[in-house]
Amino acid sequence: MKHLFFCIIPIVLSVSIQAQNYKISKELVSENGMVVSAHPLASEAGNEILKKGGNAIDAMVTVHFVLAVVYPKAGNIGGGGFLVYRDKEGETASLDFREKAPLAASRNMYLDAKGNAVDSLSRHGHLASGVPGSVAGMYEAHKKYGKLPWKELVEPAIQLAENGFGVTANEAISLSSNMANFSRANQHDSPFLKKTAWKAGQKLIQKELAETLKRIRDNGHDGFYKGTTADLFEAEMKRGGGIITKEDLTLYQAKWRNPISFTYKNNYKIITMPPPSSGGIVLALMMNMVEDKELEKMGFHTAAAVHLMTEVERRAYSDRAEHLGDSDFYPVPIEALMEKSYSKMRMRNFDAQKATPSKQIKAGEPKKVSEETTHYSIVDKDRNAVSVTTTLNGNYGSHVVLKGAGFILNNEMDDFSAKPGSANMFGLLGAEANAIQPQKRMLSSMTPTIIEKDAQLYMVVGTPGGATIITSVFQVIMNVIEFRMPLKDAVQKQRFHHQWLPDLIYHEKNTFDEITAKKLKSMGHVLRERVGIGQVEAILIGPDGKMEGAADRRGDDSASGY
Ligand code: GLY
Repeated sequence: MKHLFFCIIPIVLSVSIQAQNYKISKELVSENGMVVSAHPLASEAGNEILKKGGNAIDAMVTVHFVLAVVYPKAGNIGGGGFLVYRDKEGETASLDFREKAPLAASRNMYLDAKGNAVDSLSRHGHLASGVPGSVAGMYEAHKKYGKLPWKELVEPAIQLAENGFGVTANEAISLSSNMANFSRANQHDSPFLKKTAWKAGQKLIQKELAETLKRIRDNGHDGFYKGTTADLFEAEMKRGGGIITKEDLTLYQAKWRNPISFTYKNNYKIITMPPPSSGGIVLALMMNMVEDKELEKMGFHTAAAVHLMTEVERRAYSDRAEHLGDSDFYPVPIEALMEKSYSKMRMRNFDAQKATPSKQIKAGEPKKVSEETTHYSIVDKDRNAVSVTTTLNGNYGSHVVLKGAGFILNNEMDDFSAKPGSANMFGLLGAEANAIQPQKRMLSSMTPTIIEKDAQLYMVVGTPGGATIITSVFQVIMNVIEFRMPLKDAVQKQRFHHQWLPDLIYHEKNTFDEITAKKLKSMGHVLRERVGIGQVEAILIGPDGKMEGAADRRGDDSASGY
């Protein structure tokens, strides 16, 4: 691969908009480093670290903690996530810092006396939280790969929490519409609550969060899982009827896992997340199912292409519901599901003219062998790349703000299957594989992904969006590889989504023209319009070695590079 880092050439293209005091770059080309995230302050802070000589992992630590301050709906220290890494030599790794069920969790903890799932218990308040993994994940990744001192990397977030920053118009709307939820979940005041609605540009100051971040800065992993923060955590749980204890916090460790890795059409290699995320395997299933079809010839968003991709999504999501869960607790048939022959077998009943009703699709039998989350993609001057998706689950998670520590707790327990056949907040079904057990990690859809082309770094991609994460990543990859779109178009184009059940194609406004919609309906598909599918942050390395960043138009997402 061409390395151009020895000469500093200014950014050659930047499409920016002005929002409040922020310059938001939706497209950017740079030579030496690129950060794309959901907030301009986080992208800029990460880029500053790269400019100082930090590597992609250093920038990741800064971006993660800054997002926890400036993007409280999903950026977090009270949640968890996954990281996929590829270094400049092509070595790959993935780190699981997903939340875990507390020791006191039990299989039927969200069922009422009649055995029905009580959604509110797994979605709101203290009982909805899993044991957070983000701080452990950041610390572990930095210990292994970081270059700059940890303290320096946490500092930008502390400054922003202590001194405040102006909220964007989107954040103002979002905070205002969540004030009742914050009031309900907390007996105490929090910086998110105000007497009047939030307005764009108003300052959000988070003093208690700044103190928590200082303990993390000074004591690393233990600054969160032990000492003052752990004491405050347990006290909050006792006050609100939660079950996470100091023992749960002490036991939490992030875990290195072998990434899911598969080829596509010989010259592409996809490196993505294994269980407890379903993302990597479901992405592999979908890409394997379309690999021998002529998607490029069908054309972008034609009825034939949408039909094929829908049928593929339907089949892959039915496998997700049956077979996927935390592989430390359940024998997920990873290799069998990844076999190219398995995907071919799943497509045997594909009819190019007609939708296969989901009730006729059951999970295959592999041989034994808010919806809010956020994603950021980073590449440094040496072409080390990191792809991170992290979450509190719903917008602002459980809405519980830990008293005295100022951070929001996740409501990730809802990603478990409370009961077979009972859907989670994304309408996703699950079975035994994803039943609740103490210390188990709940199944995720997060799909942080890195792609090689001809054995060189090619693309870094990921998105939030609950159930729609995997289909959004799939479609952006197809837009680039099959439909030959420039990255900016691949990210900004409308998307659609099918998840087996309900048996619907969800689509964004204006995704299909009238003729295509009519044709899809005549094939037996049911179309349902919904708002925003995914919020993709992607970086592509062009043939000239330059990095192209694309930040989704669907939010305040912004690219920063040098
Ligand atoms: N909480 C969304 C996911 O992990 O898929």
